[in-house]
Amino acid sequence: MTRVAVVGVGAVGGVVAAGLASTGRLEVTACVRTPLGGLRIDRPDGAVQKTSVREALDPSLVTEAAWVVLATKAHQTAGAAPWLKRLCGAGTRVAVLQNGIEHVERVAPLTGGAGILPAVVEISAESLGRGHIRLFGPPRIVVPAGHDGSDFAALCEGSGITVATTGDFVTAAWAKLCQNVANGAVTALTMRRMPVFANPRIARLGRALVEEARQVAAASGAHLPEDLADRVIATLRAMPPESGSSMLWDRLAGRALEYDARNGAVVRAGARLGIPTPHNDALTALLEAVSEAEK
Ligand SMILES: NC(=O)c1ccc[n+]([C@@H]2O[C@H](COP(=O)([O-])OP(=O)(O)OC[C@H]3O[C@@H](n4cnc5c(N)ncnc54)[C@H](OP(=O)(O)O)[C@@H]3O)[C@@H](O)[C@H]2O)c1
Repeated sequence: MTRVAVVGVGAVGGVVAAGLASTGRLEVTACVRTPLGGLRIDRPDGAVQKTSVREALDPSLVTEAAWVVLATKAHQTAGAAPWLKRLCGAGTRVAVLQNGIEHVERVAPLTGGAGILPAVVEISAESLGRGHIRLFGPPRIVVPAGHDGSDFAALCEGSGITVATTGDFVTAAWAKLCQNVANGAVTALTMRRMPVFANPRIARLGRALVEEARQVAAASGAHLPEDLADRVIATLRAMPPESGSSMLWDRLAGRALEYDARNGAVVRAGARLGIPTPHNDALTALLEAVSEAEK
């Protein structure tokens, strides 16, 4: 059986671990810090999927896997290094299921030369408790076309998770990042849900954050519509009033925030390309201060 390890078994990792285990043709190990006692996925149609997975609690007890699915938050990647060190060998491939555009730069130093497959995660899910996840829609993952992308799609066949490959991953990753730079930052800083974007000044700030990201994206080779900022803010304003963001939930729960892989990544790429990103820079500074206080 192909050996798969999932590191970061929260909302996204839990859905993926349960899906892969349910194929019955993979040996799936959930690498966790505290026991899960199985996985329960509450599906959008009301069905409940219960799956048992092998659990590992100590990095020193795991060995090389064919695939590692890394689904910690981006800022938790360094903390996952002991797992990656043990799980990665020359033949291992690491699918990085994290937001942002810097998957390879972030993870490559920790995998000792294992192949890295970046992914855009289109899995809307919420962790309700240890191993208990609410899934809001059909889970989908987008990966770059090529050998590793096709193999990952084959790995996930029958898991209930759609894996799409794209020849333009740069656009796919930036499109997701542009969607994410306003909602997470603004809701986390204001500690308010999506209706905060009804405020005209907040909407203007949101547009500025997305427009800076769009300009950096375009200079990075992404093909995104020029009116993207208007579209993103219109979408946020139309969302149900109870909608929030994972950064808002993390702030409310007193956890560190995933701002650096989002707004921080726009600032870094902008600096490399000579494109000013003052709004993202200012919000990165504020989020950094907030996140530091939560550590
Ligand atoms: N949730 C969504 O709807 C969604 C949608 C699209 C993209 N994403 C992206 O997907 C990524 C994962 O997000 P998520 O929502 O699944 O996060 P999450 O629910 O917070 O899960 C992260 C998991 O990583 C675990 N973890 C952290 N450090 C670890 C370590 N050193 N060893 C073992 N486990 C460790 C945490 O375990 P503990 O419980 O022990 O802390 C937690 O279970 C993020 O980049 C996020 O932005 C999420």
